[in-house]
Amino acid sequence: MTEQGKPLIRIAIVSDIHAFSSREKGTDSVLDFSGISPGASNPLSDLAQEIEKQSSKVDILVCAGDICNQADFGGLERAWIELHHVRTLLQADQMVATCGNHDLDSRYLSNETDPDPKGALLSLSPRFPFEDSALSDKFWARNYAVLRHNDVVIASLNTSAYHGGKQEEILYGRVSKRTIDALAAELKNTQDALAHVLVCHHHPLPLSGVARTADKEYIRNGQDLLDEIVKATGNSWLIIHGHRHKPRLIHGASSTNAVPFILGAGSLGARIPGVPNQFHIASLYKSNLSEHASIVGTVETWSWNDSSGWSLSSQPAGLPPICGFGYRGQTRVLASQIADIVGPAFATWIDVRAKIPSVDFLFPDALRELETELEKLGLQVLRDRNGQPHQVGR
Ligand SMILES: [Fe+2]
Repeated sequence: MTEQGKPLIRIAIVSDIHAFSSREKGTDSVLDFSGISPGASNPLSDLAQEIEKQSSKVDILVCAGDICNQADFGGLERAWIELHHVRTLLQADQMVATCGNHDLDSRYLSNETDPDPKGALLSLSPRFPFEDSALSDKFWARNYAVLRHNDVVIASLNTSAYHGGKQEEILYGRVSKRTIDALAAELKNTQDALAHVLVCHHHPLPLSGVARTADKEYIRNGQDLLDEIVKATGNSWLIIHGHRHKPRLIHGASSTNAVPFILGAGSLGARIPGVPNQFHIASLYKSNLSEHASIVGTVETWSWNDSSGWSLSSQPAGLPPICGFGYRGQTRVLASQIADIVGPAFATWIDVRAKIPSVDFLFPDALRELETELEKLGLQVLRDRNGQPHQVGR
């Protein structure tokens, strides 16, 4: 069981909105603020309606960058204001944002004679990335900022900090060794926190299975970053990133039992054939069980399409409507515990969850692995119309 039934924190996650106001910058995005199609649905305004319908409430709204598409500053301003509207509807105490490569004018598209890659972000109202001027100034001066929400420490990192400098830097993310050292030194003073969360735009480790050529867009020094923040705090972390638009949940490499769980958020507005636009809410819990990491959590995911809007539906690509992270034991052992509950007949998944809460803290692939182990024991999982486990029986 987790130490307490109530989550330490609930975090809504929006990433890669890719809003545009100029039609020529919108070929690969659905988030159209050009005004050419008035009244047309878009995932950001539909999200506000969905939140009002669901009465969802969170503590923090995270935005993991690429608010606009191709440095379209009309789109940036509109989407940033809409995001604050979403934050209000979610009753979130704070927005925790970072910038993406598309938010910086690193190719000097807007004004060749007055190049200012981060100028539009600095001009935003409300202030970007934090309303608090000291936190914002820290983010721009040091490439990161750290804040605390009750027992949870959250760091926001600018992995596009060198975009606009050396030309090839725009091809990937980077965190410098100096930034890692400064962040780790600050985090050493937060060891009393019950959970740690990092928000960044690029992915800290290369992705596998995304293209014929190896992924090259990951954060340079990303593994060093993970090593140092885990070592500084002695805790497992939740890392939230955007950029690749292909939602996934994994854990990163670690030489200790504390691990970085890495949540690659879906894109809210990028148009990618076969990949849904997604929005997530992560709930984090503290755990003292030996088969768990120091934090465990669940991730709820909504998917959007222009005909039916947002729904908790299963999609072939992307995260399922509900999954989790933090169970570090064997799925074979969980399967035999479930078999004991089922006995000769069947059990509802609600019963299974109540008796074995660890099933809530499985990656999507680990849940599939659990099903395979159950099949070996002669048990089948029946799913509901959203594709979620509903019942397990013989
Ligand atoms: Fe993006």
